[in-house]
Amino acid sequence: MLVDDLRMELTPEELSRRKLLGLVGSGCLAVFLAGSGAAIGQFMWPNVLFEEPSKVPLLRPEDVASGALTTFARHKVFLARAPGGFFAFTSVCTHLGCVTNYDQALGKILCPCHGSQFDLSGRVLGGPAPRPLPRLELTLEKGVLVADTRKFVEPDWVFKV
Ligand code: FES
Repeated sequence: MLVDDLRMELTPEELSRRKLLGLVGSGCLAVFLAGSGAAIGQFMWPNVLFEEPSKVPLLRPEDVASGALTTFARHKVFLARAPGGFFAFTSVCTHLGCVTNYDQALGKILCPCHGSQFDLSGRVLGGPAPRPLPRLELTLEKGVLVADTRKFVEPDWVFKV
């Protein structure tokens, strides 16, 4: 058999079948390439968790009210004035992690989940919370008190300005 014998004229039916198979093959190739490209792209992209910065600017020392807490709900931080300084602590309950609320009328911090109560320095007054609300490290940057939500200090620590 000669190669020229293979070069036969195609009937219109054979031609359309060939076109159909060509289209299906091209489609499969396109899907394969798109999937491979996506997998390679995902591999090349850094697998990084973008978190908010841990340092939270709060208030200027002269703007902190005395005898009351200032709540920074977005950052889950309470700020208070103490004799000779300031302290900040997290509003995340030490029982199971609910966010507590400052009840100014009662003068307490209340956890809405299981009823733990804390005083205005974060000490446990009642309920299932096993520990006080953790105090956060405070610094003064450009005249503003800054709390670091990942650095905890002793329960009676006060930042003296
Ligand atoms: S989470 Fe606050 S009392 Fe349970």
